[in-house]
Formats: sequence, C-alpha cells, structure tokens
Amino acid sequence: MSLSARITIPATKRVVEIPTGLFINNEFVPSADSSEVIDAINPATEEKICSVVAGSEKDIDIAVAAARKAFNTTWGKNVTGFERSRLLNKLADLIERDQELLGEIETLNNGKPLKIARDFDISDSVQCLRYFAGWADKILGQTIEVDNKTKLGFTRPEPIGVCGQIIPWNYPINMWSWKVAPALACGCTIVMKPSEVTPLTALMLSKLVAEAGFPPGVLNTVNSLGPIGGAALSAHKNVDKVAFTGSTLTGRKIMEAAAKSNLKKVSLELGGKSPHLVFESADLDQAANWVCLGVLYNSGQDCTAGSRLYVQDSIYDKFTALLVAKVKELVIGDGFDEKSGGGPLVSKAQYDRVWGYIESGKSEGAELALGGQKRAGKGYYVDPTIFTNITSDMRIVKEEIFGPVLSVGRFKTEEEAISLANDTTYGLGAGLHSSDANQCMRVSSALEAGTVWVNHYNVVNNNIPFGGKKQSGIGRELGMNALEEYTSIKAVHWNFGDKCEWPL
Ligand code: NAI
Ligand code: MG
Repeated sequence: MSLSARITIPATKRVVEIPTGLFINNEFVPSADSSEVIDAINPATEEKICSVVAGSEKDIDIAVAAARKAFNTTWGKNVTGFERSRLLNKLADLIERDQELLGEIETLNNGKPLKIARDFDISDSVQCLRYFAGWADKILGQTIEVDNKTKLGFTRPEPIGVCGQIIPWNYPINMWSWKVAPALACGCTIVMKPSEVTPLTALMLSKLVAEAGFPPGVLNTVNSLGPIGGAALSAHKNVDKVAFTGSTLTGRKIMEAAAKSNLKKVSLELGGKSPHLVFESADLDQAANWVCLGVLYNSGQDCTAGSRLYVQDSIYDKFTALLVAKVKELVIGDGFDEKSGGGPLVSKAQYDRVWGYIESGKSEGAELALGGQKRAGKGYYVDPTIFTNITSDMRIVKEEIFGPVLSVGRFKTEEEAISLANDTTYGLGAGLHSSDANQCMRVSSALEAGTVWVNHYNVVNNNIPFGGKKQSGIGRELGMNALEEYTSIKAVHWNFGDKCEWPL
C-alpha cells in the first residue's frame, strides 16, 4: 500500500498528507511480511479517514533491532544530556509549530473537541517535552561514603535500554508525550505502538522526530493490533522495559508476557473507578463544576474519571439537583463545532461497551436522573447519564465504564464516605470537596489512590507524579519520579586502600 494518504479535513478544508507506513530508522516503510491494514475512523461520522499499515511480529523485531542499534551507537550512553535536552526542546518547538494541524487530526480520529485537543492536550504535551528536556542534563547519582579511608561507593543512573511503549486512544498525543519525553531524556530508545483506534497523530509526531534531528532508530513507531504488535513487544527478549497505559485486562497480559520472556521492567497505568466525595461544608457550586469536569471531560474516557460520586446526606437533594442542571449545560457534538464541550466516544466498540453498562444500570435497578436515551443519526454520541439509588454490588458501581456515566450515592459520616470510596479494587484517582481543612487532611490521607484532588478534580501537571495504587497500576509517570522508570541504578564500589586477605 501507499506510505501516505492525502486527506481533506471536512470542517476546515485543510489538505493534509498523513504518513501511513511504519516508522523505522527515521523512515516510513511498508510491513516486511504483511499486507494487513488498520482503518482509522472518524467517530463523529463513522466514515473511514484512511488506512495505515498494520505491523506484524516481524516488523516489531525489525524496529527493536533498530532501537538496539541506536542505543548502542548514537544514543544511550553515546550522547550527552545537553544534546538530548536540545533535541527534546526542538521537538517541542515543532509540535507547537504544527499545533493547529495536529489538533485537527486528533479531533478527526478521536472525536474530542478541537479546542481541547489543540489548547489542552497539545499545549500540555509541548510542556511535557520541555519539562523532561530540563531533566535530561540533570540525571544525578549519589556518592556514598563507606569508611572515609579506603572505600566509597557511587551510583550512576543508566538508561535502561530499549523500551516498548504501548499507548491508548483516549489521549493519543498526551500519552505519546508522557511516555516518549522521560524515555528520551534518560537516553532510552523506543518502539512505540500507538492504539489501532487512533494511529494517525503518532505517525505525524514520528515525522517531527526525524525533522528535529534525532538519530535514526531512537524512536520507531509500529502501528499494529494490540494482540499482535503489543503482545510481541511485551514478550520480546531484546526489549528491556515496557510502559503501558490502557485496561487492567491488557495490563495483566503484558506483565505475564514480561514475566515469561525476559523479566523486563514493566510500568502500567491502568483503569480506575475513582470516587468523588462532597461533604456538607463544601462550596457546592464549585464542587458541582468539578464533579461535572471529573466525569464528563473527554466524554468520560479518562482513566481518573470520577465515576462514583458520594454526597453527604444533609446536602444530597440540593446538590444532585444543582449537578443535574449543570450537566445539562454541556454541549456534546461534533468536535469541529466550537460550541462542543464534548465529542462522540472514540469507536463503535467503546459506544457498545458504554451502552452495555447503561442497560445494566437500568436492569439492576438504579434510577436514571438524566440521560440513558440513545440519539438517532450517525456518530458514536452518548449523552451524559446519571444514575442514583445505587448499591455497591451493581456493575455500574464496580466496573470502569469509560464513558459519560455517573453513579451517585450518599453517606452520613466521614468514616462511611471513606469506606465507600475505598470499596474498589482500583486506586487511581479520588477527589473530595470540603471547607474543613482538618477534614481535607484526614480524608486525603485515608483515600487509597495514587492521586487525590482536594477541592479540585482531574487536573494533572507535568511536574507532579501520576500513577495508581491497587489494580490501577505500577510505577509513576510525570514528575521526577518518571525518571526512575527509564533508568537503572549502577552502584560502583570503589576501593582505594582496602587489602584482600587470602585465604579466608
Ligand atoms: P486496551 O487496554 O486493550 O488497549 C490499550 C492499548 O493496549 C492499545 O494500544 C492496544 O493495541 C494494546 N493492546 C491490546 N491488547 C494487547 C495485548 N494483548 N498485548 C499488548 N498490548 C495490547 O483497551 P481497549 O480494549 O481499547 O479499551 C477497553 C477498556 O480499557 C476501556 O473501556 C477502558 O475501560 C480501558 N482503557 C483505559 C485506558 C486508560 O487510560 N487507563 C485507556 C484505554 C482503555
Ligand atoms: Mg482491548
């Protein structure tokens, strides 16, 4: 097949040449042995945008070999932190230059509003690259005094090697940046496998990697189906680390493949069923805004989506009425329409999955306070849906839905709120709203989650670590903690006087 597709973006009439091959050694290439393709779909219209090459296991092998060669010759320990920093900053500048174009392609393939893709996702990704560019020449070890006379130790954080990175479809550019920036800052090389649902922007970013001047093989991109390319990367004997964001189910498979192959290092950012608590002293208007943002941002396709809301008894009726009124204000529509605050779900599969949950909520006896009706016409739209009268055994309360669906429960005491919040196998995000500072401190400490938002929700920062507890994952992204995911510590024991007595 052709290695690029010329498309016209219907809403803006912009003509774009999108690379559609595999990106290996800074070039777009066909598959070595497969003629399979992946269709990229516009979820607002259900129409095909273009097809990209679907990489095979053999293609993963070729990309891993390219990444290994670069690691041993032009990257890894062969390049200074200053140079890695310079190139990351250059890449950030190029993404910023192409912000509008990349935003349009992200909206076309993912469905999210253009103003969000362009102004939030891409601005944040540029900042992420610059943040880690800042670390590239500041990767420090320790010197450790042993006896002041004959021996000291020191540590060198070394790049871990070739990294497989498997990313999802909900934030294609953001997740690319969160993974690529720390890996390159530390001197690792990459084989990236974008989601088969949203492969286009990763290919456009790959082109910018070459333009920025990264040596061939430092970053390679293999579009592929998860069970083929993703599985091959996870099981590959010449891959030193795999970093993954996606479902808990797939995370488990990746960890198993790592264990059965070469015990590669694994970091997993998985799902959640994040609780959001509103106490009676909270600023109710602000709390309602954050609850809306918490569950509706990105049409609920967010790993920290605050999908379980618990409200204190004394304010329950007032708060839920306020919340329903505010949720109704959100416009869900085509991402290219400036009025849209939310777009369609990403795919038919996700649409069907979310509807399955809405139907289960109805049949298990939860009460619909809003939504729950299908729209007519094209596009994978799901209107915000709120369930009340929930019980802890319902599927909508226990399982990640990944759509604009909120379950609302109530509590009497702080203890009860904490116990409801923690009654989950997940531990990614949690939020609480209260004007009692002592309560905020007590509750934020008791919540079992990698991120707790106090009087706030769903806002992440590149300099603050992010990751999960319990079955929401292993490891941390962002912040200086992310550097630990891409380095391996070498301890050097240095003798300058100790004599070895022999025999023992
Ligand atoms: P998924 O976890 O299967 O897909 C995420 C990535 O994993 C994709 O790149 C996919 O190609 C890859 N993958 C799939 N199977 C693989 C395998 N056997 N080995 C290695 N890589 C593999 O997620 P999916 O099926 O698209 O969505 C299902 C649910 O997962 C969603 O409804 C949502 O609940 C959750 N999810 C969570 C995300 C998060 O940000 N934590 C992101 C995407 C999905
Ligand atoms: Mg899957």
